[in-house]
Amino acid sequence: MEQTFLMVKPDGVQRNLIGEIVTRFERKGFKLAGAKLMNISKETAEQHYQEHNDKPFFGELVSFITSAPVFAMVWEGENVIATARQMMGKTNPQEALPGTIRGDYGLTVGKNIIHGSDAPESAKREIDLFFNETEIVEFEKNGNNWV
Ligand code: TYD
Ligand code: MG
Repeated sequence: MEQTFLMVKPDGVQRNLIGEIVTRFERKGFKLAGAKLMNISKETAEQHYQEHNDKPFFGELVSFITSAPVFAMVWEGENVIATARQMMGKTNPQEALPGTIRGDYGLTVGKNIIHGSDAPESAKREIDLFFNETEIVEFEKNGNNWV
Protein backbone atom coordinates (compact mmCIF):
# COMPACT_ATOMS: atom_id res chain seq x y z
CA MET A 1 0.00 0.00 0.00
CA GLU A 2 1.21 3.52 -0.79
CA GLN A 3 2.90 5.42 2.04
CA THR A 4 3.75 9.07 2.57
CA PHE A 5 5.78 11.13 5.02
CA LEU A 6 3.86 13.86 6.84
CA MET A 7 5.24 16.15 9.49
CA VAL A 8 3.58 18.66 11.79
CA LYS A 9 6.09 21.52 11.70
CA PRO A 10 7.26 23.40 14.83
CA ASP A 11 4.47 26.00 14.52
CA GLY A 12 1.81 23.26 14.38
CA VAL A 13 3.25 21.54 17.46
CA GLN A 14 3.46 24.82 19.39
CA ARG A 15 -0.13 25.68 18.43
CA ASN A 16 -1.47 22.32 19.67
CA LEU A 17 -2.52 21.16 16.21
CA ILE A 18 -1.06 17.61 16.35
CA GLY A 19 -4.36 16.03 17.40
CA GLU A 20 -6.41 18.01 14.89
CA ILE A 21 -4.10 17.02 12.05
CA VAL A 22 -3.93 13.34 13.02
CA THR A 23 -7.73 13.30 13.29
CA ARG A 24 -8.18 14.63 9.76
CA PHE A 25 -6.08 11.86 8.22
CA GLU A 26 -7.64 9.16 10.43
CA ARG A 27 -11.16 10.25 9.54
CA LYS A 28 -10.33 10.39 5.85
CA GLY A 29 -9.58 6.67 6.06
CA PHE A 30 -5.78 6.61 6.07
CA LYS A 31 -3.78 4.43 8.44
CA LEU A 32 -1.03 5.68 10.72
CA ALA A 33 2.02 3.42 10.35
CA GLY A 34 4.57 5.35 12.42
CA ALA A 35 4.87 8.55 14.44
CA LYS A 36 7.26 10.37 16.75
CA LEU A 37 7.86 13.73 18.36
CA MET A 38 11.45 14.73 17.67
CA ASN A 39 13.96 17.50 17.22
CA ILE A 40 15.51 17.63 13.75
CA SER A 41 19.26 18.15 13.44
CA LYS A 42 20.58 20.80 11.05
CA GLU A 43 22.08 18.01 8.90
CA THR A 44 18.76 16.15 8.62
CA ALA A 45 16.92 19.39 7.85
CA GLU A 46 19.39 20.26 5.08
CA GLN A 47 19.02 16.77 3.61
CA HIS A 48 15.24 16.81 3.88
CA TYR A 49 15.02 20.15 2.05
CA GLN A 50 17.97 19.53 -0.30
CA GLU A 51 15.91 20.41 -3.41
CA HIS A 52 15.66 23.97 -2.05
CA ASN A 53 19.32 24.48 -1.08
CA ASP A 54 19.85 27.20 -3.69
CA LYS A 55 16.67 29.14 -2.84
CA PRO A 56 16.75 32.45 -0.95
CA PHE A 57 14.50 31.05 1.80
CA PHE A 58 16.66 27.95 2.47
CA GLY A 59 18.50 29.32 5.53
CA GLU A 60 15.30 30.50 7.18
CA LEU A 61 13.56 27.23 6.34
CA VAL A 62 16.29 25.12 7.97
CA SER A 63 16.45 27.35 11.03
CA PHE A 64 12.65 27.28 11.42
CA ILE A 65 12.29 23.50 11.08
CA THR A 66 15.07 22.93 13.64
CA SER A 67 13.82 25.59 16.07
CA ALA A 68 11.47 23.32 18.09
CA PRO A 69 10.13 19.74 17.95
CA VAL A 70 8.21 18.38 14.99
CA PHE A 71 5.76 15.47 14.86
CA ALA A 72 6.94 13.09 12.12
CA MET A 73 4.52 10.51 10.70
CA VAL A 74 4.17 7.78 8.12
CA TRP A 75 0.66 7.40 6.71
CA GLU A 76 -0.64 4.66 4.49
CA GLY A 77 -3.53 4.25 2.06
CA GLU A 78 -4.77 4.41 -1.49
CA ASN A 79 -3.30 7.44 -3.27
CA VAL A 80 -2.23 8.87 0.09
CA ILE A 81 0.61 10.99 -1.34
CA ALA A 82 -1.56 13.13 -3.62
CA THR A 83 -4.61 13.12 -1.33
CA ALA A 84 -2.57 14.29 1.66
CA ARG A 85 -1.21 17.15 -0.46
CA GLN A 86 -4.79 18.15 -1.31
CA MET A 87 -5.81 17.99 2.34
CA MET A 88 -2.80 20.19 3.25
CA GLY A 89 -3.64 22.88 0.68
CA LYS A 90 -1.30 25.11 -1.27
CA THR A 91 2.17 25.93 0.07
CA ASN A 92 1.20 29.55 0.71
CA PRO A 93 -1.65 29.57 3.26
CA GLN A 94 -2.94 32.79 1.65
CA GLU A 95 -3.72 30.72 -1.45
CA ALA A 96 -4.79 27.53 0.34
CA LEU A 97 -8.54 26.94 0.27
CA PRO A 98 -10.67 26.91 3.42
CA GLY A 99 -11.16 23.31 4.47
CA THR A 100 -7.51 22.49 3.93
CA ILE A 101 -5.07 22.38 6.84
CA ARG A 102 -3.02 25.35 5.64
CA GLY A 103 -6.17 27.20 4.54
CA ASP A 104 -7.78 26.76 7.94
CA TYR A 105 -4.80 27.35 10.22
CA GLY A 106 -1.98 29.12 8.38
CA LEU A 107 -1.21 32.76 7.64
CA THR A 108 2.26 32.89 6.09
CA VAL A 109 4.33 30.67 3.81
CA GLY A 110 7.17 30.45 6.32
CA LYS A 111 4.94 28.92 8.99
CA ASN A 112 2.57 26.70 7.05
CA ILE A 113 2.05 24.01 9.72
CA ILE A 114 2.59 20.79 7.81
CA HIS A 115 4.95 19.05 5.43
CA GLY A 116 3.92 16.27 3.06
CA SER A 117 5.87 14.35 0.43
CA ASP A 118 5.06 15.43 -3.12
CA ALA A 119 5.80 12.21 -5.10
CA PRO A 120 6.56 8.50 -4.61
CA GLU A 121 10.33 9.11 -4.84
CA SER A 122 10.34 11.89 -2.24
CA ALA A 123 8.02 9.86 0.01
CA LYS A 124 10.46 6.96 0.04
CA ARG A 125 13.46 9.23 0.53
CA GLU A 126 11.82 11.13 3.39
CA ILE A 127 10.47 8.04 5.17
CA ASP A 128 13.97 6.52 5.04
CA LEU A 129 15.51 9.75 6.31
CA PHE A 130 13.24 10.03 9.36
CA PHE A 131 12.31 6.47 10.28
CA ASN A 132 14.12 3.17 10.67
CA GLU A 133 12.38 -0.12 9.87
CA THR A 134 11.50 -0.95 13.49
CA GLU A 135 9.58 2.32 13.82
CA ILE A 136 7.13 1.48 11.03
CA VAL A 137 4.37 -0.82 12.16
CA GLU A 138 2.56 -3.33 9.97
CA PHE A 139 -0.84 -4.30 11.31
CA GLU A 140 -4.42 -5.04 10.31
CA LYS A 141 -7.08 -2.43 10.82
CA ASN A 142 -10.60 -3.63 10.14
CA GLY A 143 -12.12 -0.16 10.08
CA ASN A 144 -10.63 0.35 6.64
CA ASN A 145 -13.01 -2.27 5.21
CA TRP A 146 -15.79 0.26 5.78
CA VAL A 147 -14.25 3.19 3.92
P1 TYD B 1 7.92 23.65 -1.16
O1 TYD B 1 8.52 22.29 -1.27
O2 TYD B 1 7.88 24.48 -2.40
O3 TYD B 1 6.43 23.59 -0.58
P2 TYD B 1 5.62 22.39 0.11
O4 TYD B 1 5.93 22.43 1.58
O5 TYD B 1 4.19 22.72 -0.17
O6 TYD B 1 6.06 21.11 -0.55
O7 TYD B 1 8.71 24.49 -0.05
C1 TYD B 1 9.11 23.87 1.15
C2 TYD B 1 8.86 24.83 2.27
O8 TYD B 1 9.67 25.99 2.12
C3 TYD B 1 7.43 25.39 2.35
O9 TYD B 1 6.54 24.51 3.01
C4 TYD B 1 7.62 26.66 3.08
C5 TYD B 1 9.01 27.14 2.66
N1 TYD B 1 8.94 28.19 1.63
C6 TYD B 1 9.20 29.49 1.97
O10 TYD B 1 9.49 29.79 3.14
N2 TYD B 1 9.13 30.46 1.01
C7 TYD B 1 8.78 30.17 -0.28
O11 TYD B 1 8.71 31.10 -1.12
C8 TYD B 1 8.51 28.81 -0.62
C9 TYD B 1 8.13 28.45 -2.04
C10 TYD B 1 8.60 27.86 0.35
MG1 MG C 1 7.91 20.33 -1.03
